Amino acid sequence: MTLPSSVSRRGLMLALGAGGVAIGSGRQALADPVFAEYPFQLGIAAGDPTPDGFVIWTRLAPRPLEIGHGMPSAPVPVKWEVATSRAFSTIVRSGEAVARPELAHTVHVEVEGLEPGREYFYRFSAGRERTPSGRAVTAPAAGAAVGQARFGVLGCQAYEQGFYTAHRKVADESLDFIYCYGDYIYEGRGNRTYTGSGGTMENPRQHLGGEVYSLDDYRRRYAQYKLDADLQASHASTAWFCTWDDHEIDNNWVAALDQDGTPPEVFMLRQQAAAQAFYEHMPLRRSAFPRGSAMQLYRHAAWGDLLDLNFLDTRQHRSDQPCGDSWAATCDGVSDPAAQVLGEAQEAWLYRNLERSQARWKVLAQQIMVMDLDRKEGPEPGYNLDTWAGYRIPRQRLLNRLRDRRIGNTIVLTGDEHQNYAGELHLDSRNPEGAPVASEFVATSISSSGDGQDQRADGRRYLADNPFLKFNNAQRGYVVCDVTPERWQTEFKVLDKVSEKGGTLSTRATFAVASGDARVVAA
Ligand SMILES: [Fe+2]
Repeated sequence: MTLPSSVSRRGLMLALGAGGVAIGSGRQALADPVFAEYPFQLGIAAGDPTPDGFVIWTRLAPRPLEIGHGMPSAPVPVKWEVATSRAFSTIVRSGEAVARPELAHTVHVEVEGLEPGREYFYRFSAGRERTPSGRAVTAPAAGAAVGQARFGVLGCQAYEQGFYTAHRKVADESLDFIYCYGDYIYEGRGNRTYTGSGGTMENPRQHLGGEVYSLDDYRRRYAQYKLDADLQASHASTAWFCTWDDHEIDNNWVAALDQDGTPPEVFMLRQQAAAQAFYEHMPLRRSAFPRGSAMQLYRHAAWGDLLDLNFLDTRQHRSDQPCGDSWAATCDGVSDPAAQVLGEAQEAWLYRNLERSQARWKVLAQQIMVMDLDRKEGPEPGYNLDTWAGYRIPRQRLLNRLRDRRIGNTIVLTGDEHQNYAGELHLDSRNPEGAPVASEFVATSISSSGDGQDQRADGRRYLADNPFLKFNNAQRGYVVCDVTPERWQTEFKVLDKVSEKGGTLSTRATFAVASGDARVVAA
């Protein structure tokens, strides 16, 4: 018998003895494993809070960057505890989960039976090793009066293009929750340099390996990202709601189509690997468990009577980008009546949620910009076709629905652009009629595109050419939404640099929306 390299003979002996824990049909788990190295190097996370609980996550990976991650090919039990204080003097829930080799020894526990609207702390242990504690807040009781919520919006964290100082800072905000819109990893190969707004820049860090395709590739990419202490601090600070954008699989993919014209049945194999690795590494509920290349990622959450949160998936059910996905362009395909952004089922689900909602604010938490920014110089308009502007008919359907059914107080939260934007949504921004239908805030990136600058030349032009656009900034950072029944407030937090550790954070701008009035005004 060959011993797995990271499990000592004692661990295995115990596992094979009376202390073995039965896992499924006849297999035995390593009941008291002894790890060659600390197994929780990838940190912990919480996700998808409800009024009575949340998901808690960790992974056993003593050698996170190696194939097999330093674990034996066997299930291993992991203990978990939830307490009302960081001292863990009162443990209110505890149990044992199984880290399975099929899922890269990740653990997802759906903790239940907690009290609504309060802070909890959680931790894991395996063998003699224990994680630090993490914090998560349960959602307020359904329909309960909520006076204030404060949450973060972030994403786009290209590892090689900058340090995760924004994560370190957001961890200090003690937020109710974080919405991560996606681009948690980037699939590309390691590059010494990247081309940013300031020309060709040296990358401060490097991706390991080439472009990722296989399950092992994606797992190693997640491991490299999750080894970052700042990212771990951000996860440990509060629960996240996670969706994906494109780079969790491949740049600008939609449905079963990649940007390179790969046969869909081949691309779907890559999607299947990427979906499994995404599920494994995010604090997602069992309802998101991948089936082949598909994942159920669109979902709803509520924060008492204050927020109805609709987390959308604008990749999986979308039709192909029109006009060959070229930049700042337009063509007949932009007005294709058969085009879809959400797909029929998700769109119907969203409209149902919006029409039934009793909450003060209705949130569309999603990936791609709804504002139809004209991005082309000169009299002819040109759009980013990987946004809702490239899908005029579904975009009009959404905004018509909001207007015709008098669904007010709708806030769209977006990412993907690697710039901050704030603006107002009109059915046709070239011919705005009356008051805006809704408001949109676009969060910049954690690190993607490097240091950036306060405003780029294109940003200045967008502001001049698009009167519904109220704010643009091209630095790195995150957004904090501070919400009361009377007003929505969005704070744009930016860093002076991410090319070195220790960047300085400042609040670059704050915008507000008053209840009953979708205009976006400087606060
Ligand atoms: Fe991105």
